[in-house]
Amino acid sequence: KRIGVLISGRGSNMEALLAAASDPAFPAEISLVMSNRADAAGLVTAASQGVATAVVDHRPYGKDRESFERALDARMRDAGVELVCLAGFMRVLTPVFVGAWDGRMLNIHPSLLPAYTGLHTHERALNDGVRVHGCTVHFVTPVLDVGPIIAQAVVPVRAGDDPDKLAARVLRQEHRLYPRALELIASGAAWLENGRVMYQDAQ
Ligand code: GRF
Repeated sequence: KRIGVLISGRGSNMEALLAAASDPAFPAEISLVMSNRADAAGLVTAASQGVATAVVDHRPYGKDRESFERALDARMRDAGVELVCLAGFMRVLTPVFVGAWDGRMLNIHPSLLPAYTGLHTHERALNDGVRVHGCTVHFVTPVLDVGPIIAQAVVPVRAGDDPDKLAARVLRQEHRLYPRALELIASGAAWLENGRVMYQDAQ
């Protein structure tokens, strides 16, 4: 499967996907890394590994999200992208775009969904005093961070944690989880059906 990865910044999850896909046995290849920000550090990483990159700046489109998304969509289709992975992509996507990639677009979110959708997840988890936290890979649906869950990883919350320490512990798990979740979908071992994630090996 040909993968398009959308980023807005650092791109460490994208890097984890690239590393996994460098194994010839992995059922997906990263065909395009695209960003809405020209200064996204992840673009440099991707280019240095010989992966095609593209920038579609959202700012000239102003409030016209659909035109911005048509531009994203055109680049992905040109690159033959079949599955999209959002990896720290900081633009909200419209139902039109999400619908066009229904069942073919994944996101990683730094919390155990359905808890802590949105931003500042680590800080909010610490404020609530939860003892476990983690990350989730899910299919993207029109409502932010609410799509069907593909895989999750759990980390302990430790005494003395601050948001940065907790974020770092979660991020290590993100880098393990996202490639495994992508492998499940790209290989056909799991898929979206009637709004639920189905698993080939389920009894
Ligand atoms: C990750 O924590 C991801 O879960 C969240 O944004 C962060 C992106 O980090 N959506 P990176 O760009 O992958 O390093």
